[in-house]
Amino acid sequence: MQSSIPQPYRHAIMPVPSHDEHAREDFIAHLKIHMTDHVYPFDEAIYEQRVKPRVVKELGRAPKDCDEMRKVMMDEPFTQFWSAIARNLQDMLWANQAEIVAHQVTRLTAAYHAARKQPLGSLTIDSNFKMPSYIDNIDIHRMPGGYQTSFDDEDIFAGAVYDRGAFYYGKGRADPKGGTGARAFHSVLQLRYPGFSPKRMLDSGCSTGGNTTAWPDLFPDTEIHAIDVGAAMLRYAHARAEHLGKKVHFSQQNGERTNFPDNYFDLVISGGVFHETSRRAADNMMADIFRVLRPGGIALCYDIPYGGDYPLHSQFMLNWDCYYNAEPFWRQWTAINRTDFMAKAGFDRANIWEAWGDRDEHGRYTLFDKPFDALHPSARGGLGRVQFFGAMK
Ligand SMILES: C[S@@+](CC[C@H](N)C(=O)[O-])C[C@H]1O[C@@H](n2cnc3c(N)ncnc32)[C@H](O)[C@@H]1O
Repeated sequence: MQSSIPQPYRHAIMPVPSHDEHAREDFIAHLKIHMTDHVYPFDEAIYEQRVKPRVVKELGRAPKDCDEMRKVMMDEPFTQFWSAIARNLQDMLWANQAEIVAHQVTRLTAAYHAARKQPLGSLTIDSNFKMPSYIDNIDIHRMPGGYQTSFDDEDIFAGAVYDRGAFYYGKGRADPKGGTGARAFHSVLQLRYPGFSPKRMLDSGCSTGGNTTAWPDLFPDTEIHAIDVGAAMLRYAHARAEHLGKKVHFSQQNGERTNFPDNYFDLVISGGVFHETSRRAADNMMADIFRVLRPGGIALCYDIPYGGDYPLHSQFMLNWDCYYNAEPFWRQWTAINRTDFMAKAGFDRANIWEAWGDRDEHGRYTLFDKPFDALHPSARGGLGRVQFFGAMK
């Protein structure tokens, strides 16, 4: 079958689908793209032409906030129709990935052990790790087993499902070799702090290290650390990095309070983590980022954008995942002002900046100084449009 969507790069621990499994991956990604380009955009017209007149007739006014907007939109058959497809697509995506991984766990586990023989970097799993309850209590974005599941001390399942699954979750609109987010971070860094080059850096909430492993090429002399809560995610991340020949020190740690000394890092990055953390954990993580940065060090983050300034219909589309895709913290995150968020952790307001990025079909970001006027429907369900924010300590 001809496909315009490339497959993720086949490093030694990447799961390999059968013909039919790949046909399914391709179908799912193409249907997601079709929904984004040809179905979601009509929802706004449905609101203006059908829902709003009906609500105005009934209530004497238009919906007053994002919650009321969701209620009235979810009564609308067109919205119910695309919502059902979006939710089913997500379940199909993970079910397919779980099936792909399940029939080659033995090979992937062997690849994990092979990577451990003469590692460039390191892996530290904490046998007494206490999983944060906000992670443990949910299979985030309906991924079976979430980030937290690890059955034994060689389990790589969650990582294998996530690595390949995240690529198709993003409709294949990313560099098949990974590193799309890292390169976006790097351009922002070059723009804001020309010539900055860290001696030591941390990737907080690294998942399977798809972005972490791009940094050794961007900063060849930098000591690179990466943390996450998921043991199976980290085992996979470590093996993946080793098979790619990238030196990274992975450790299982809660980003809310890491074991790194104060003032230890020159650069801390965190991509796409805060929308998946409880409000308290997000504050704690940012406070720890502030603590471990040396004075003059830089914190650099990206995530789902602040939604409060957008029209209510855009806010409804932006926050859909919170209610229908097991993303319970998404809505509160889109209501948090990023400058306030960083200032609360200790950063000087005068040093905090925000920027916006728009990802094209090849996974490259164009950066803007101002928020978008409205959110393109590609913002629904993923990191199509993101907000960068950061500060020097
Ligand atoms: C969407 S993924 C991040 C993607 C990753 N940064 C990248 O660039 O590919 C969110 C990750 O944050 C991790 N995470 C959530 N809460 C955390 C915490 N308190 N400490 C460390 N990692 C955390 C999750 O386990 C998950 O792997």
